[in-house]
Amino acid sequence: MKKVYLVGAGPGDPGLITVKALELIKKADVIIYDRLVSKDLLKHAKEGAELIYVGKREGRHSFTQEEINKLLLEKAEEGRIVVRLKGGDPFVLGRGGEEAMVLVKAGIDYEVVPGVTSAIAAPAAAGIPLTDRRYASSFAVVTGQEEPGKKERLDYGAIGTDTIVLLMGVSNLGRIVEDLMRTRSRDTPVAIIERGTTEDQRVITSTLGEVVEKAREMGVRPPAVIVVGDVVRLREILGK
Ligand SMILES: C[S@@+](CC[C@H](N)C(=O)[O-])C[C@H]1O[C@@H](n2cnc3c(N)ncnc32)[C@H](O)[C@@H]1O
Repeated sequence: MKKVYLVGAGPGDPGLITVKALELIKKADVIIYDRLVSKDLLKHAKEGAELIYVGKREGRHSFTQEEINKLLLEKAEEGRIVVRLKGGDPFVLGRGGEEAMVLVKAGIDYEVVPGVTSAIAAPAAAGIPLTDRRYASSFAVVTGQEEPGKKERLDYGAIGTDTIVLLMGVSNLGRIVEDLMRTRSRDTPVAIIERGTTEDQRVITSTLGEVVEKAREMGVRPPAVIVVGDVVRLREILGK
């Protein structure tokens, strides 16, 4: 039966892949993978497997979402075992739902294999629990980059959870912080976790009032998870 597996590769540390995902990587005929997938995981692919990189490429044509969708359909039509390997969890800010929709509409079976999302794993690796009964009962995972041309702009200041976790927030940090400071104190703690769970992880802590300047000074670059809220203080004790 024609089938595509939408598989979460985890947040960066190859050890954080699920058993099911690793088994699929080993038996796949075709693996279509993104930029944030650890290259160590691809070493498990079987000999002769076709590995197709569809992430961003500096100075060269990068695949559009439409081209990725087309590729998924083409490879599935060939009747081979197709693994679409995505960073973190496929259904968390990763267009996994869109890809599943394309398959469903084309009458091709799909299975999603959830992964460990960077939204939770990167803060954890930095010693920041997203909830703690003393400081935070709730968290929201929010994109820092909305679809261009979207009519209603996300109002970050209106998010009511105790902790906010921003993905893809580096380039719009100034605007996001401005929104947040309408409803949260400028002393609210903020952490930026770059390349979380990997050997190159870097953590920067600050406050809403100062984080934009500090991120600029420190040359913060994606991929980074940004955590806003009192739980960030726990890093002083739990951070390694
Ligand atoms: C397109 S989203 C995909 C998120 C993914 N589906 C997940 O569940 O982790 C990409 C963003 O995830 C975050 N991200 C992914 N891996 C990361 C890592 N190892 N460290 C920090 N942020 C990461 C960054 O905010 C990055 O810009």
